[in-house]
Amino acid sequence: MTIDIITVLPELLESPLSHSIMKRAQEKGLLTVRTHNLRQWALNKYGQVDDYQYGGGAGMVMMCEPLANAIESLQKETAYDEIIYMTPDGDQFEQKTANQLSLKQNLLIICGHYKGIDQRIRDNFVTKEISIGDYVLSGGELAAAVVVDAIGRLLPGVLNDETSALFDSYQDGLLAPPVYTRPAEFRSWKVPDELLTGDPKIVDKWRQERSEERTKEKRPYLLKD
Ligand code: 6GU
Repeated sequence: MTIDIITVLPELLESPLSHSIMKRAQEKGLLTVRTHNLRQWALNKYGQVDDYQYGGGAGMVMMCEPLANAIESLQKETAYDEIIYMTPDGDQFEQKTANQLSLKQNLLIICGHYKGIDQRIRDNFVTKEISIGDYVLSGGELAAAVVVDAIGRLLPGVLNDETSALFDSYQDGLLAPPVYTRPAEFRSWKVPDELLTGDPKIVDKWRQERSEERTKEKRPYLLKD
């Protein structure tokens, strides 16, 4: 999968996507992430990509022309399955969204800044708008990193058996059960007996029950459907 990202702050995306599992995904050639600095398509030598909003009011708006030129120039090289705009008023990002997007070949992500991007770009280029939650970030970059990470780890071959996504929280509509590692007793705090039996049936039953319990307590709405 290839993910192109248009941003005014490529540095903000580089570190989160160059370690651990995202690093391995890219080294294995399973994921290609390319950041593109919007200022390449700026209107003048000052690197201008934003302007005051019509109607007045504080805050700048990212202009049509640099964004349209950036998108169209990237489209000459790549046919995108989705053009995604990261915005706090987008559709809430969920595991289901990550699963769906992980099946695509090429994605283009636009990171907004300031008051956001000119509505005409949203109307005429963007195919999907994503928010990572009901709070406001200074820009779309950290949210884009979240989305790329959530998608990237689902690509076939990125995770191994030990890190398998199959048993993640949310993947079966339930939160993951508690986990423990050695020692079996630490400061008199004991690992549950069921996990020490070595009997997969007992272990599975315990995990299923704890998953349901946790979900009921922390995310009851997941159990409704
Ligand atoms: Cl995608 N962008 C910004 N700026 N803030 C957000 C967000 C996105 N999702 C939640 N808050």
